[in-house]
Amino acid sequence: MSHRIAAKITGVAGYLPPKVMTNADFEKIVDTSDEWIRTRTGIRERHVVEKGMASSHLATEAAKALLAQTKTDPEEIDLIVLASVTPDMFFPATACLVQCRIGAKRAWGFDLSAACSGFAYALTVGAQFVGAGTHKKVMVIGSDTMTSILDYRDRATCVLFGDGAGAVLLEPANGPNEGILDFEHDVDGSGGEFLYMPGGGSLHPSTKETVEKRMHYVHQEGSQVFKYAVRRMAELSVHLLERNGFKKEDLSLFVPHQANLRIIRATEERLGIDGSKVMVNIDKYGNTTAGTIPLGLRDAVAQGRLRKGDLVLIVTVGAGYTTGGVLLRWAY
Ligand code: UT7
Repeated sequence: MSHRIAAKITGVAGYLPPKVMTNADFEKIVDTSDEWIRTRTGIRERHVVEKGMASSHLATEAAKALLAQTKTDPEEIDLIVLASVTPDMFFPATACLVQCRIGAKRAWGFDLSAACSGFAYALTVGAQFVGAGTHKKVMVIGSDTMTSILDYRDRATCVLFGDGAGAVLLEPANGPNEGILDFEHDVDGSGGEFLYMPGGGSLHPSTKETVEKRMHYVHQEGSQVFKYAVRRMAELSVHLLERNGFKKEDLSLFVPHQANLRIIRATEERLGIDGSKVMVNIDKYGNTTAGTIPLGLRDAVAQGRLRKGDLVLIVTVGAGYTTGGVLLRWAY
């Protein structure tokens, strides 16, 4: 069964805040080493916001770059779907802040929460509106300011993440072989206990106690998430390729979520695909949650690794657990 959607990506852009934190910077904060971080995660450095900059600001910069690149008037945008687990506020939605700042006067929009799978889910949701014929230009954004929810006393999580945003423009595809060919998403809520932020929601509203208990930070059982991610990313990739009649050799580019280089390499090995076809930029950005996939696409375009007609597979696993995969033909 294929879930063909007649929508294609017609542009991709991103934004990373200028400030960079290296592994050596972490050596001064927690008991860690550049060597541990590099060998266990593949990360060398990550971009981080200055005080006062939030996910809406990162998203707005990415959106503006996307409008410029695609020569799109902001008033042409019909819908903004923004994925984030670090919205500026619970409400209004960060999509509304971006809509106002870029002058997308005709657009409606909303936020979507699916952690590291957020962008893949948002891409699929946005594409449905284009495919249905009701929307012509949909902006899909993944933006996270993970440093706002990191515990800089927990060496097992604080070294992993960075801040950043990426955005794509979706428009109607011209034919059956262009744009998004298929997707597969699933959720396994039994994994919720392994990666979460307990405080600040309706279960544990913010109090002095929730702050003292450090409940407003990312909590993760890394090895559990690691094993699940490797297994599901590989399984889902094989399934998506097979049901569309493709072999691994048909893939031009594999764009995995960037959580850990070892997860990426293990998935690559299970799939048996050539490392040269795998997008990796975790060394420079760390895990930017909803930002990793669009930033991966952006970097691939900049490096001349994506051409019209290329078969691209996006795959991700995140908190939830959420798993997402999108198979597409690059359209420009
Ligand atoms: O994007 C959302 C999904 N998230 C992920 O996909 C993350 C998945 N998990 C991972 O990437 C890895 O599990 C981590 C990078 C988080 C951890 O790597 P690991 O190889 O699974 O290490 P571990 O948790 O089994 O810990 C091994 C040791 C422990 O020390 P002991 O107990 O063996 O003495 C940790 O305390 O490494 C220690 N450790 C560190 N040591 C130096 C953990 N973090 C650090 C650190 N520096 N930053």
